[in-house]
Amino acid sequence: MVRNILKLSQKMSQEIINKFQLPARYAGSEKSVWVEYIQLAADYKPLNLGQGFPDYPPPKHVTDALADVAKSPNCLLHQYTRGYGHPRLVSAIARLYSHLIGREINPQTEVLTTLGAYEALFSTIVGHVDVGDEVIIIEPFFDCYEPMVKCAGGLPRFIPLRLRENVTGDLPSSADWVLDKNELEGLFNDKTKIIILNTPHNPLGKVFKMAELELIANLCKKWNVLCISDEVYEWIVYKPNKHVRIATLPGMWERTITIGSAGKTFSVTGWKLGWAYGPAHLMVNLQMVHQNCVYTGNTPVQEAVAVSFEKEIARLDKDECYFNSISSELAAKRDFTSKFLCDVGMKPTIPEGGYFMVADWSPLESKVDLATEGDKYKDYRFTKWMTKHVGLQGIPPTAFYSEPHKNLAENFVRYCFFKKDENLQKAAEILRNWKCGKN
Ligand SMILES: Cc1ncc(COP(=O)(O)O)c(C=O)c1O
Repeated sequence: MVRNILKLSQKMSQEIINKFQLPARYAGSEKSVWVEYIQLAADYKPLNLGQGFPDYPPPKHVTDALADVAKSPNCLLHQYTRGYGHPRLVSAIARLYSHLIGREINPQTEVLTTLGAYEALFSTIVGHVDVGDEVIIIEPFFDCYEPMVKCAGGLPRFIPLRLRENVTGDLPSSADWVLDKNELEGLFNDKTKIIILNTPHNPLGKVFKMAELELIANLCKKWNVLCISDEVYEWIVYKPNKHVRIATLPGMWERTITIGSAGKTFSVTGWKLGWAYGPAHLMVNLQMVHQNCVYTGNTPVQEAVAVSFEKEIARLDKDECYFNSISSELAAKRDFTSKFLCDVGMKPTIPEGGYFMVADWSPLESKVDLATEGDKYKDYRFTKWMTKHVGLQGIPPTAFYSEPHKNLAENFVRYCFFKKDENLQKAAEILRNWKCGKN
């Protein structure tokens, strides 16, 4: 009797398992570097230069704005707001970008606010990709692009930025990571629906130059392709580099959706507020996905971000504007980080923007016991070994490549340098001690 019940329940559980497999469109997307490395950090408690956020307070006026919303006598600020974006916030976003891109943006029809840049990417991709459409993704890429394209039924077509030969002996710059023109041209065809651009780039820090953007723009126009421009690091650009918004290039506004993030703009990644802006004929597709997925965003956070934007818009040309001061603050951290990575024998790529730095760790291979880690790719083994035995965590950049191109990134590690000076000094010391055999 008991055995029969057991058999029956085994059969039932097998039936349940069989029927409720992950849908095929998600196959291959199960693994997430973030889930794995956040757990690794929790288990080993290294100094964490892995995840991309500051470990010190964001601008005070921004957190004060949220506190003020909580205390506001306007009780409606705690209730549902307009689905496509809180009115005060879409007005501020439209005002800012109208100024930046030199065209009037309609806050009602040309802006959508979302749950982080993630949801803006999701709504743009799912709102445009049909089964069989091809989407060009530049490697390394922010890791959600590929699963989002696949879940919409699209076919990702990958092209890597390649590190060009450097004969000067100087450290490479992110500008040395370049697309091959012929390779890029060869990817465009009648099935191409979208190209995803990320500038300033995560993880390389590349800030695409006008000529590079013109090449992409001309191909978009030639093949009638939509450009999704992920510009979440738009305010973090080191002198003399300049961030160029591809939507400002001739003929590009009508075929570009640009994506931003309050998390990156105001250094409050936990607020998970993003936006997309573009022409109304494209935005309707995002709005449709958004309304049927989350319908509306978080009202208090949108109000606080609106207030924060208003403050910065009023002082855009001043040094104290956070959009200007953040890069000066980070430039010093970038220089300090590249120096200590060099001192230990790594070869960093100096980023032109963003707050990540990739470094070639292969000169140190003899100091690392890669055989103790079971992962397929060397950068995973290196970063795990360093976390466990040296106490410093970075991110393996093969996570940002398609399978056939992962070999291009195995010798690299990504570090985030948006950390307290004190913690960057600790990281330098950890590496120095390791180099001298003290840990
Ligand atoms: C290039 C890029 N795009 C999008 C995102 C997602 O931004 P959010 O946290 O606003 O969803 C990130 C976050 O790290 C990113 O680096």
